[in-house]
Amino acid sequence: MSPFRLTRTLPKDATDAALRADVRHGLTQTPRTLPPKWFYDAHGSRLFNRITELPAYYPFIAERELLRAHAGDIAQATGARTLIELGSGSSEKTRYLLDALPGLHTYLPVDVSESALRHAAQVLINEHPDLHVHALVADFTSTLTLPPAPGPRLVAFLGSTIGNLLPAERASFLTSVRTLLSPGDFLLLGADLVKDPAQMVAAYDDTATGITAAFNKNVLSVINRELGADFDPDAFEHVALWDAAREWIEMRLRSRTAQSVKIPALDLVVDFADGEDLRTEISAKFRRSGLRAELAHSGLELAAWFSTPDARFALALATPHGRAATPLPAGQVTACVR
Ligand code: AVJ
Repeated sequence: MSPFRLTRTLPKDATDAALRADVRHGLTQTPRTLPPKWFYDAHGSRLFNRITELPAYYPFIAERELLRAHAGDIAQATGARTLIELGSGSSEKTRYLLDALPGLHTYLPVDVSESALRHAAQVLINEHPDLHVHALVADFTSTLTLPPAPGPRLVAFLGSTIGNLLPAERASFLTSVRTLLSPGDFLLLGADLVKDPAQMVAAYDDTATGITAAFNKNVLSVINRELGADFDPDAFEHVALWDAAREWIEMRLRSRTAQSVKIPALDLVVDFADGEDLRTEISAKFRRSGLRAELAHSGLELAAWFSTPDARFALALATPHGRAATPLPAGQVTACVR
């Protein structure tokens, strides 16, 4: 039996307080916004897993392809003994890294969803009986304290989840990741790339199945349940659009009518005008030069860049400034920056 532990660095009442603060702040400002992390209760996590099965949702497919092709290169470059995965969700793609890292001692999945962590750990422990799995219920956008674990450490942040952060949030996130890393440690970042807008919008606008719409509206059900609100999800329309100036996809919920929503736990009434939008997610898309600059700004340099042949998606491997990665074998790497 492999050792399994689960630590809540986020006590339930801190989570409740954070939700209240986010909802109050987001729904009283103009334009109205909600942070995407509140999509992921047990139901929302299941809906997200169904999104990853949609053929139009290329980021999942492309990243899996990259991990399958390059897990060995990543293992060789990092020699990681501890894998820390931020926003691990179902850990579905983690197995490529786990299988490729023979010296791996500890896996630390970090997620806001305890149900997703427990489910994922159960599956992984069966497949890797010797691995130490220590799951952390935590919000990776706030300060992270990690339990001691042997180096070299590889922090994986997959799925282009970095794109859900605003540029200023990205900068402070990358800086806090940098403080977790010692020389010889690495960050593996999944980054969706700027491409044909029609392809990007189609990934978020699946009117055919309605799964992304249900995922988007799930945040209203979370607020109804947790804060006693009376949102009618059917009174909002799912919207996905490409913001060309800021190079991000935005998901919104558009009020189908003028309506008032009560949120008793906050003693708040929110009035929506007919057609008013509530922004629920940004999903920024990246270019190599821009990401390299953002990493450099936080004290990290690109050690390797793996992208799909059609340049839909990339995995960036970064390391604290001043230490070169172990050279990667020529010919196996789509692009190696150094
Ligand atoms: C994988 C969490 C980053 O922004 O693409 C999928 C979430 N939102 N469909 C993304 C998501 C709408 C997703 N993340």
